[in-house]
Amino acid sequence: MTHRTATLTIDGKPSIEMPIYDASEGPSVIDISKLYGQTGYFSYDPGFLSTASCESKITYIDGDKGILRYRGYDIADLAEKSNFLEVCHLLLYGELPDQKERDQFEHDITYHTMVHEQLQFLYRGFPRRAHPMAIMVGAVASLSAFYHDSLNIYDEKQRELSALRMIAKMPTLAAMAYKYSIGQPFIYPNNELSFAENFLHMMFATPCEKYKVSPKIVSAMDKLLILHADHEQNASTSTVRLAGSSGANPFACIGAGIASLWGPAHGGANEAVISMLEEIGDVSKVSECIKRAKDKNDPFRLMGFGHRVYKNYDPRASVLKESCHEVLDELGMHNEPLLKIALELERIALEDDYFVQRKLYPNVDFYSGIIYRAMGIPTQIYTVLFAIARTVGWVAQWREMIEDPQTKIGRPRQLFTGSASREFVPVEKRGAAKARSAA
Ligand code: CMC
Repeated sequence: MTHRTATLTIDGKPSIEMPIYDASEGPSVIDISKLYGQTGYFSYDPGFLSTASCESKITYIDGDKGILRYRGYDIADLAEKSNFLEVCHLLLYGELPDQKERDQFEHDITYHTMVHEQLQFLYRGFPRRAHPMAIMVGAVASLSAFYHDSLNIYDEKQRELSALRMIAKMPTLAAMAYKYSIGQPFIYPNNELSFAENFLHMMFATPCEKYKVSPKIVSAMDKLLILHADHEQNASTSTVRLAGSSGANPFACIGAGIASLWGPAHGGANEAVISMLEEIGDVSKVSECIKRAKDKNDPFRLMGFGHRVYKNYDPRASVLKESCHEVLDELGMHNEPLLKIALELERIALEDDYFVQRKLYPNVDFYSGIIYRAMGIPTQIYTVLFAIARTVGWVAQWREMIEDPQTKIGRPRQLFTGSASREFVPVEKRGAAKARSAA
């Protein structure tokens, strides 16, 4: 426990001493929880630019140095040497599993990959053209209607069961959303396959034909899952925590997280990157696109570029850039035009003053879409894949919150700038009242 304090001076008078808590790494925090009680002021920080919303031991990011660690392990190390289910174990329980724990965890996840058969009727209620993220928001939240034995958030065993269920069932639900959109029968999970291969199997096998895939592609998919598994208090994770702080059940909370992830400023960017690269169409048009991104009168942004936390190359993008080359080589697609456009875009942007001054670098979404596309995954599934991987992060963060005795319902305050108190005017007199106030 630290004894350092910060003193806040209001109107020239020292008004309040606030304790400082030291982080094990990264910025320490000033505890402002008594600010309102002792001064009558709220703090004001739209977008949480300077606000730590919780204490956490799961993921550490140093945005200036381009560092990302899960439970102390560097992301590049995990992507190279571990696998997704090991990483899930690490995020959920704090440690990489030994062999026995690993076998048990793999068994537990595998055992929960099927979904309630009645869920297919929920899917059939959606138009075929529905965006798979729209289906996922509903399907995941609807698990709370099917699995009543894992809704009690105060029961540790039920929390564990809901965690396993969500991680295990996400690929099944995602592949069902795809199969439904193209009018093919749903494919059941095959528990002999690894997590990543099983997902590809449910996406691309049919009852008439098995899906054969090279181990290099499975390994690239596994890597993608690892890289997206957690990212501390991002928008969707904060949404999950906020939803969960009211005591809502975990399936509903993850449904809320998926909704938040969908936006193009967050997980939806991977889909937007491919649309952007396709729109550019040719390496010769890259500079036009850069010009648009710099134009303050044009809302267009370079998708897959920039990050609230990283002011350096996103370490996930470094791994993915390499992986992108490996996948394209494996599939004999060395001349993929979109990769050429992406590389040129990156080259020009990284030399351009606008991007250099604002420290805008490629983020995780810049190369992931090109890999997914090469694997034959349709664009609308990219953000769904992000959700499959991030589910473990959401669940780990949700559990940490539920188990933290400091947790309170999340209830931000506001700077109110609306009307002062007014008298109610009956409808027949409102015209005259409006005319008076306009005069
Ligand atoms: N293209 C052009 N200009 C940009 C971009 C971009 N991609 N990103 C930021 N800027 C500019 C922005 O206009 C602003 O300029 P100025 O200071 O002159 O007003 C400055 O850089 C700072 O931007 P900001 O919007 O204040 O930064 P932020 O931290 O609020 O936003 C971001 C971060 C990721 C929303 C933003 O960089 C962005 O919209 N990027 C494109 C979308 C994207 O790739 N999102 C995926 C994020 S990574 C995956 C994930 O974790 O979800």
